[in-house]
Amino acid sequence: MPGLFITFEGPDGSGKSTQVELLAQALAGRNPLVVREPGGTELGERIRELLLHRPEGMSAEAEMYLFMAARAELLETRIKPALAEGRVVIDDRYHDSTLAYQGGGRGVAAAWPAHFPKPDLTILLALPAQEGIGRHGRSGKSLDRLDAESLEFHEAVAKTYDRLAEREPERFLRLDATADPAEIHREVMRRVGQLL
Ligand code: TYD
Repeated sequence: MPGLFITFEGPDGSGKSTQVELLAQALAGRNPLVVREPGGTELGERIRELLLHRPEGMSAEAEMYLFMAARAELLETRIKPALAEGRVVIDDRYHDSTLAYQGGGRGVAAAWPAHFPKPDLTILLALPAQEGIGRHGRSGKSLDRLDAESLEFHEAVAKTYDRLAEREPERFLRLDATADPAEIHREVMRRVGQLL
């Protein structure tokens, strides 16, 4: 039995992690694999450290391949085996993040590698760039290097996400991140319920 691959996407401050947690709790009886990117493997966590506390002057292309290297490791060692066992996999960010941040935000020529499986469902928590930055600031969470990018960068990210969702309406469920978290969770559960 093939598993179910669900990814969450959205700009920083979109409430993604809350929704990942709510879905993981709701599906706890099915023992889902819950991972976040970059990370989820020993190599991935080390790459995450590199990316978030990067040396000065990392090229945009090198950055993209680091995110993808972490993803390749996570896919091979955890995601693909879990899906092969028929499990639900919930991934907090996946390759759409690379298309949005490195492709849209930084202007790197980013594509979808043939050996990266497409998720069965991608939940996009859409948020105007200005709103995301405001939310992050208010939460008091320290800003990492990517969070500290310009408003223009975050606008390009948001626009790319919207374009990706328009291009693949079957795969994407685009939700307004400013809505009540409980209502967002209900919408997520409605769609997930159709797939289970
Ligand atoms: P993280 O602390 O996980 O932020 P969030 O809670 O918003 O997911 O940091 C991940 C950062 O890395 C976030 O700013 C998005 C960025 N990112 C990319 O630029 N490309 C990618 O492929 C991925 C997975 C993340």
